[in-house]
Amino acid sequence: MKGIVLAGGLGTRLYPLTKVTNKHLLPVYNKPMIYYPIQTLVDAGIKDILIVTGGNSAGDFLKLLGNGREFGLTHLSFVYQEGEKGIAHALSLAEHFCAGDKMVVILGDNIIEKSIKKEVEIFEKQEKGARILLKEVENPERFGVVEIKDGKIIRIIEKPKNPPSNLIVTGIYMYDSQVFDIIRRLKPSERGELEITDVNNKYLEMGQLTYGILDGWWTDAGTFDSLLKANILVAEKERKKI
Ligand code: G1P
Repeated sequence: MKGIVLAGGLGTRLYPLTKVTNKHLLPVYNKPMIYYPIQTLVDAGIKDILIVTGGNSAGDFLKLLGNGREFGLTHLSFVYQEGEKGIAHALSLAEHFCAGDKMVVILGDNIIEKSIKKEVEIFEKQEKGARILLKEVENPERFGVVEIKDGKIIRIIEKPKNPPSNLIVTGIYMYDSQVFDIIRRLKPSERGELEITDVNNKYLEMGQLTYGILDGWWTDAGTFDSLLKANILVAEKERKKI
C-alpha cells in the first residue's frame, strides 16, 4: 500500500498567510501542517510515501522533511505539480510512484484525532475499487457532500448550496490503480480543475465505491476559521497527553 500526501495549490483562502509560503508549511500548534497527514499515514502502517507539492516554497518541503527520519521513515518521495489544476490532477502525478499498487491519499491540510489503520485494513481486503471516509459536520456546503439512502451512497455533490445531508467526504481517499485511467478521462470543472469528487462519482457509477465513517474529530485547515479550529483541537489533544 502506497501513501500520497497532496500538498500543492496556492492556498488563496488563507491569503496573505500564503503570500510567500505554502499552506502546508504553516504552523498547526507545535508542528508544520504537513506533519499531521504524514503521521496519519505512518500510523496506518504505510512506509512508502509520496509528497506532491507545488506553488510557493515547494523546495522547502525537502529541507523540512528530508528523508522522513522524524517519522521513522528511511526515505520519502517528492513530485512537483506545475500549475493549480486540482486535486485529481495532483494525484495523477503519483502514477509512476504507485506502480500498480493500491494507495491511501490524504490532503495535506486534513488533520484527524484517531488512527485510520482499521479502515486501511478493510480496504486492503477490498478486491478492487475505492473507499472514502465520511464525517458529519455543521457546515457541509463547504465540502463534497454525500446523499445516502438505505445505507448506500446515491451521489456526491461538490460544495452544494443546499446540502442533502451533513455527511461530507473527508480528504482521505483509498484507490486502486484504476484511478489513473479515471483521471485521464476527466474533464475540468467550471473552476477549471480536475475534481476528486468526479473521480469518486465515477467509482460510484462503476459500483466499486465503499465508505467508512471516520472515528474521532476531523478538520481541514484551509480557511482562517478551520486553521484556528485545527490549532485548538491539536493543542487540546497534545495537552491530554501530558
Ligand atoms: C476538497 C474536496 C472536497 C472535500 C474537502 C475535504 O475541497 O474537493 O470534496 O470535502 O477537500 O477537505 P477543498 O478543500 O479543495 O475546497
